Amino acid sequence: MNSQVKLLAIESSCDDTSAAVLIDGRVLSNEVAGQLVHEKFGGVVPELASRAHQQHIVPVIDAALKAAGVRMEDLNAIAYTQGPGLMGSLLVGSSFAKGLALSCKIPLLPVNHMDAHVMAHFIDDPKPQFPFLCLVVSGGHTQLVRMDNATSMEIIGKTQDDAAGEAFDKSAKLLGLPYPGGPLIDQYAKEGKASRFQFNTSKMPGYDFSFSGLKTSILYFVQAEQKKNPQFIKENLADLCASIQETIVGYLLKNLKRAALDQGIKHIGIAGGVSANSRLRIRVQELANSQGWQAYIPDFQYCTDNAAMIGITAHYHFLSGNFGSISDRPYAR
Ligand code: KG4
Ligand code: ZN
Repeated sequence: MNSQVKLLAIESSCDDTSAAVLIDGRVLSNEVAGQLVHEKFGGVVPELASRAHQQHIVPVIDAALKAAGVRMEDLNAIAYTQGPGLMGSLLVGSSFAKGLALSCKIPLLPVNHMDAHVMAHFIDDPKPQFPFLCLVVSGGHTQLVRMDNATSMEIIGKTQDDAAGEAFDKSAKLLGLPYPGGPLIDQYAKEGKASRFQFNTSKMPGYDFSFSGLKTSILYFVQAEQKKNPQFIKENLADLCASIQETIVGYLLKNLKRAALDQGIKHIGIAGGVSANSRLRIRVQELANSQGWQAYIPDFQYCTDNAAMIGITAHYHFLSGNFGSISDRPYAR
């Protein structure tokens, strides 16, 4: 049988340049080039990110095509991240995608980055059943998304200030850890006692989240303890990480559980960079087991930013004839 949908997907919304090739919804390659240049600044520097994308985009696309054994002329559409993200970063991927599509005379498929994080669940089997409730937790967003079919996404809750990833990264910064601190908190927490310290979280209306109170609570506590003992952080790093992680994960899951119970949803999942967190992965599975629900936890390679998730979202757009045009503009939010 001849293949129908051969896509090249490009992701460049933040600080990872990624390209993937999909044939009929099957991921044949998924190349990612990260950017270490931001580490010493304690966060992503937009101008440096966009310059690094320019350096990485050709080799990454080349590698993705080679790994898949697919040539440019075999493709029948180009997918790219339209937004949200850093404007300078998005412009590199979107301009490149448009240039390729024009020169190959094939259509464009613009993709929303947050939709793509949820759609990462539709790469491998078993795919979620509907209604599906997904907690999307990344460096820029925190959302509870309800899906009733493969193309409808309803945001029923979101953060009113920081994203969950920012809560991890900013807490890590307070502890003197480098950026991005989320994975380091996860790592140190493995040796720590999660019940050792308590931090405050804020109850928000509906299914919304807020992380600014938590950040202040950690800051005041750590500052007071450091005054008494300048070695406090160093001597208690593992317990601090475990306690902060448990607080963030517990807060996220409380809303997810309440929303699922209220709406009678039995298929729940996590997505986005923070879904790589080992404690969140364990606790969402425990929640599902305790309620008789099904939990969907993405493969590690599909948690953080990657082009495979852009490709699978574009695959469904392709099937429903939902193409973009050369005049589509990237959007930051
Ligand atoms: O989805 P993503 O790769 O990029 C955005 O779209 O923002 O998410 C990046 C975020 C960062 O805040 C990073 O610290 C966090 O995901 N992260 C983690 C872990 N791995 C990545 N946070 C906690 N534990 C982890 N293991
Ligand atoms: Zn992301």
